[in-house]
Amino acid sequence: MTLAPIVVEPRLPEARGPLSLAVLDLLTERAPRNHLHRIEASVRDSDPYGIDLQLALYVCYELHYRGFAGVDPGWEWNPGLLHLRAQLEESFLDAVHRDVGEISAEDTAAAEMERLTVEPVDGAGPSYYLRDKGTWEQMQEYFVHRSLYHLKEGDPHAWAIPRLMGQAKAAFVAVEFDEFGGGRGDQVHQQLFADLMVAAGLDATYLGYIDMVPAESLAVVNLMSFFGLHRQYRGAAIGHFASTEITSSPGSRRLAEALDRLGAADACALFYREHVEADAVHEQVVRTDVVGDLVSREPALNSDVIFGIRAHELVEDRLADHLMACWESGRSSLRRPLS
Ligand SMILES: [Fe+2]
Ligand SMILES: [Fe+2]
Repeated sequence: MTLAPIVVEPRLPEARGPLSLAVLDLLTERAPRNHLHRIEASVRDSDPYGIDLQLALYVCYELHYRGFAGVDPGWEWNPGLLHLRAQLEESFLDAVHRDVGEISAEDTAAAEMERLTVEPVDGAGPSYYLRDKGTWEQMQEYFVHRSLYHLKEGDPHAWAIPRLMGQAKAAFVAVEFDEFGGGRGDQVHQQLFADLMVAAGLDATYLGYIDMVPAESLAVVNLMSFFGLHRQYRGAAIGHFASTEITSSPGSRRLAEALDRLGAADACALFYREHVEADAVHEQVVRTDVVGDLVSREPALNSDVIFGIRAHELVEDRLADHLMACWESGRSSLRRPLS
C-alpha cells in the first residue's frame, strides 16, 4: 500500500501581535547553542486568553510535537525561549485558576466525573445547534476549529504515560492504544479526522488552519499541552483526559446526527460514530481504572484531577460561547469565512 505523502513539519503561522511576533521572529534564526539569550517581550500587558498570547504559546508548544519546516529544532530546549514560555504559561494558568475558582476539600474526582455523565435536558451549545439547525458551512467551520486538536488527537495526553504507575498506567495506555488506531495506521483517530477533512472538502494539512482560528480554539489545545508537559500537573492531565472521554460519546452522537441531517459523506460521520462507541467504553475504563486507581494511589492528586476537569470545561465553554455568538448573529466564527 502506498501512503499519500503528508506534511510532517507545518509552516509557521502569521504573527498576531507583539508576543507572537517576538517568538516567530526568533524561530527564523538558528538557536544559540553556547550562551543564554534573554528574549525581551512584555507578557504582563497581554490578555491571557487573547490571540497574541495564545498563538505565541501554541508555537512554543508545537516545537515539542512536530516543529516547523525550516525552523532549527534546537529551539525546543532553548533556555531563553523556555523562559519566555514560562511567562506565557503563568499568565494563562493564573487566568484559568482564577476562573475555575476554589476547589472545596469535600469535592471528589469520582463525584466530579459523575456530574459530567448527567446530560442536561435542555442542553445548548454547538453540537445541539449543529444537530438541530446548523448549516453545512457552520459544520465545516466546526471541523476547522477542531482540526487543531483532532489532527494531534491523543498526543498531548501521551506525555502523562511515564508519570503513571500500575493499573492507572495500564488502563490509560489501553485507551490511548485505541486513539492511536490499535496497531493500524489507517485507524489512528488523527487519520480518521484527516479523512473527514478531505471528505468535507477541507484541507487536512496538520495546522493547515492555524491562521484562521480564534484564540478560543488555540486555548483548548494549549491547556492540554500545558498539562501534558508539566509533571506536576499530571493529575490535571488525567482529569482533562477523563473529561474529554466522558463528554465525547454524547457530543459525538449529536454531531453524527447533524451530519446525517446534512447528508454529509460517510467519512465525515464515521469519525464521530467511532467515538460514540469507543468513548462509551473508554469512559468506564477511565473512571474506574485510570482516575480511580490514580487517586487511591496518590490521594493528593484528587483536587488536581478536579481542576483538570473544570479547566477543560472552562476553555470548551469559552469556545462554545464564541461559536454560538457568531452563528446566532449570522457571522463566520473564523477569522475570515471559508471560501
Ligand atoms: Fe479519539
Ligand atoms: Fe476515546
